[in-house]
Amino acid sequence: MWEAGRKKMIKTVKTVNFKDKRVIMRVDFNVPMKDGVVQDDTRIRAAIPTIKYILAEGAKTLTLMSHLGDPAKDAEKAKEKAVKDGKSFDLDKYIKGKHRMAPVAAHLQKKLGKTVSVVFAGEDSCYGKKAFIDKQKPGTVIMLENTRFHKEETAKAAPDRDKLAKALAEYGDIFVNDAFGTAHRDHASTASIAKFVPVSVAGFLMEKEIKYLEPIVSSPVKPLVAIIGGAKVSSKIAVLESLLKNSSALVIGGGMAYTFLKAQGKKIGKSLVEDDQIGTAKSILEAAKKAGVEIVLPLDHIGAEKFDAAAKPVKIAAVDIPANLLGMDVGPKTVAKYKEVISKAKTIVWNGPVGVFEFDAFAKGTEEIAKLVAAATAKGVITVVGGGDSVAAVNKYGLASKMSHVSTGGGASLELLEGRKLPGIEVTRGRDYFIAGNWKMHMTRKEAADLAKALVKSLKSGKHKYLAAPSFTSIETVGEILKESNILLGAQNCAAEEKGAHTGEVSVTQLKDLGVQVIILGHSERRHSYSESDDLINKKVKLALMHGFEVILCIGETLDERNKGKVEAVCKRQTERGLAGVTVEELSAVTIAYEPVWAIGTGKTATPADAQAVHKFVRGVIEKLYGSQAAKQMVIQYGGSVNAGNAVQLMAMEDIDGALVGGASLKADTFTPIAKFS
Ligand code: 13P
Repeated sequence: MWEAGRKKMIKTVKTVNFKDKRVIMRVDFNVPMKDGVVQDDTRIRAAIPTIKYILAEGAKTLTLMSHLGDPAKDAEKAKEKAVKDGKSFDLDKYIKGKHRMAPVAAHLQKKLGKTVSVVFAGEDSCYGKKAFIDKQKPGTVIMLENTRFHKEETAKAAPDRDKLAKALAEYGDIFVNDAFGTAHRDHASTASIAKFVPVSVAGFLMEKEIKYLEPIVSSPVKPLVAIIGGAKVSSKIAVLESLLKNSSALVIGGGMAYTFLKAQGKKIGKSLVEDDQIGTAKSILEAAKKAGVEIVLPLDHIGAEKFDAAAKPVKIAAVDIPANLLGMDVGPKTVAKYKEVISKAKTIVWNGPVGVFEFDAFAKGTEEIAKLVAAATAKGVITVVGGGDSVAAVNKYGLASKMSHVSTGGGASLELLEGRKLPGIEVTRGRDYFIAGNWKMHMTRKEAADLAKALVKSLKSGKHKYLAAPSFTSIETVGEILKESNILLGAQNCAAEEKGAHTGEVSVTQLKDLGVQVIILGHSERRHSYSESDDLINKKVKLALMHGFEVILCIGETLDERNKGKVEAVCKRQTERGLAGVTVEELSAVTIAYEPVWAIGTGKTATPADAQAVHKFVRGVIEKLYGSQAAKQMVIQYGGSVNAGNAVQLMAMEDIDGALVGGASLKADTFTPIAKFS
């Protein structure tokens, strides 16, 4: 099913050919180290499927890069502590034991076995390793030193990051990002590098993380139950607000629950509380009430007199906590409530423990949650666990393999659940071919219905993104047929005003009501036969985007303009003015269709080379307006007498990402071969 929306698809390693290519791959080998020995290799093991795949596909070299702690910051802290404890501090020894990548490379060698050779590129630098990499035998894995030894890796200023990114980009023809744990960082090796390599794709780990985490925010299988724990309200506000949108119940546990209880006027004794967050807690409770989301707070507790592993656990049978105690875990009544709520879920997301589970006497609530979520998984519920502490908890109880997905990212998984865009993921979003049929003023409802039915059948196995845009009168009929198919429903125009006295116009609200997902705007027939100006088109574009539609913005020159050498000037003006005031976020819902007016319906197609030249130019215009990342991801369709005979050659051009088809879209047997070109 093709979802209309603002997100372009993630490109994965499966979409590129690695044969004889040099690959530079970001992994997250930020593993706990002690005296140069890897303490937990979960993250190393998690990257192995992608490493093996790339090698099996015949890559020439595979160069891995990662950070490992933060040498400068960590050393400073360790030194301060040594001074405080009156101990001596040996910086070299400290760095060697904690931050050098050589032992990690050796560990990876062990995990990959003898058939693969892993070499360490040297601890001197990540710069200047091209010759070293190029002289390796085909199929060698090269491990670079910890990227964070270079301050450019995390530099605030983009030009500083670019310096390192450019050097790293020299080591690969293809960039693979499989470092989900670092995907929320806009660093040289996680994001900036994508500007300097031709192709950027996601590895299998990244793909799996996104597959489970992203739908929780965008389109979860409902009912969704969210369990959010942890000490501080302040660090979880954004995720609570984001999860309110799709959850039927929100379980709030852990230290932050007491702030919520206090906000409700309950007694919380000496429990952890953030008094400055009481207002926030109140407004979240209020928002939940409005949205009809059940909030589940502790009903009883296990308390203690002080925060200590050895403290004596005290049962508190009611919600109010006596003045001499602090809450450390939830009690049995609360666990029973958890059981009831969890039993209704089809999707569960869990981030953060509900008690002080690192102290055995106060771990019961968290352990019960882990067991309940594991049991739900066995019944077919989608269960996703994210965040360092809840992951530690499921590992502690040996239940990790019983969950649908346990995230390898703490901060990254939280930010995804907050609905934020992660730089390391965004760079792997690619362009997909988008083939659209513009049915113009053709067909009765019956004829349109027949065509839609035929397309649903013939495009079912199609791999690209599809759109059918019938005339207004057939939208409802066609929409019914396209529901649940992989073909989006389009309209060919909309009014520039939201509502009112506009005889003969159709509003965005009315189109939304019909289930329309995409609106074609600025078609040359509207520009030239109905005198639509750049400003009017721009007004429609902004209105449609504001109402959550995707937009296809048509541009293109007339024959006269072409003969006068004005192709670029016209396309530039129509693009710039059409997109005036559109933000870079909104831009991901925009497709541009280059339709030279002289080619529309005339049987004259632009040659693939001529069309490519204009597409490339338009991409350059987008780059100037929105930057290189947005330009790389902009889908630019070609339109004008596209047919089964010329589609393949056109689509083979680097900057042509699909087609907007008129005449040939009116019959299934002429549109299908274009739509299913390969
Ligand atoms: P033709 O494919 O009939 O030339 O029409 C192109 C077009 O205008 C699509 O919007």
